[in-house]
Amino acid sequence: MANKQQNSIAIVAEKLVKKYGEGVLAVDGIDLSIRANTIYALLGPNGAGKTTTVNMLTTLFEPTGGSASVLGFDVVRQANDVRRNIGVTFQEMVLDEELTGRQVLDYHGRLYKLETAERKKKTEELLAIIELQEAADRMVKTYSGGMKRRLELVRGLMTEPKVLFLDEPTSGLDPQNRASIWQYIRSLREKGDLTLLLTTHYMEEAEELADIVGIIDHGRLVVEGTPRELIDKMGADTIRLAGTGDSDRYLKELQALPFVQSSVDTGGLIQIGVDSGNHRLPEVVTLATKNNFKIEDISVAKPSLGDVFLKYTGRQLRDK
Ligand SMILES: Nc1ncnc2c1ncn2[C@@H]1O[C@H](COP(=O)(O)OP(=O)(O)OP(=O)(O)O)[C@@H](O)[C@H]1O
Ligand SMILES: [Mg+2]
Repeated sequence: MANKQQNSIAIVAEKLVKKYGEGVLAVDGIDLSIRANTIYALLGPNGAGKTTTVNMLTTLFEPTGGSASVLGFDVVRQANDVRRNIGVTFQEMVLDEELTGRQVLDYHGRLYKLETAERKKKTEELLAIIELQEAADRMVKTYSGGMKRRLELVRGLMTEPKVLFLDEPTSGLDPQNRASIWQYIRSLREKGDLTLLLTTHYMEEAEELADIVGIIDHGRLVVEGTPRELIDKMGADTIRLAGTGDSDRYLKELQALPFVQSSVDTGGLIQIGVDSGNHRLPEVVTLATKNNFKIEDISVAKPSLGDVFLKYTGRQLRDK
């Protein structure tokens, strides 16, 4: 039976493998253990195996190897139980464009055999959440991309799932729509009793939303942790500055400071690795004045999840 404790594990994968045909090893032994009531982001570049992983967890594809369970139900042997307890939003939109927004939700409720009254109540509630009441009786084909995506997102909620899978919930949306969907996803979690696994190739999305981020590359989970943990493991801040004057002398004096861990001058732009950017900024500035180096621009940068990705995979995670 499903375990309802706060600290229970909602999604488990053990050495999960998916091969397509003979050639493609899309998922290459993934282990997951995702606590109930968390937002977990699977972050990785195109082709990393995110959708394939989600498709196995949501019972769409059978694993080639390993095992997985959702709320304690095995995704192969108890696929129906899994399906009854989850909601899914697919990467490719599957909305019927000839239906109205209200019909989309209503039909989904019918599919899951909700009582009429319950169905009507849920439909109105969800239309309100995504602010689609006014457009509710227009056909989906007249909606904007953002409206469709919002509708798609809440459709899976008609059945009040305990676990929700969102495959690239904001792909192809403009920043404004993306932000409103982030807000909505956060509000879902605040309502409680919902575990959310989302996939994304947007670093900021993982950083904004996730309690736990798992970075996936070439079908493997390369590192996992809270965004803060992952970034903190990168250690130092970077102070970036540009200016005019004797940069060689300034740099030499900087390097002599005990808290300066690294420094590089890339043709006018000086980057200084320090233990704590904001604390060290005044000293860096004072030293510049002392050396007649005139700072024209200065900023403190935090390492990003992109840097984390680079560290663990040796490749850039392009935000495309
Ligand atoms: N039906 C399929 N048949 C053969 N190969 C497939 C199939 N689906 C996916 N693949 C391959 O498996 C690998 C993983 O694909 P998957 O769609 O899981 O990646 P993804 O991380 O979701 O990528 P994206 O960010 O582009 O959505 C890729 O190399 C892809 O080409
Ligand atoms: Mg995908």
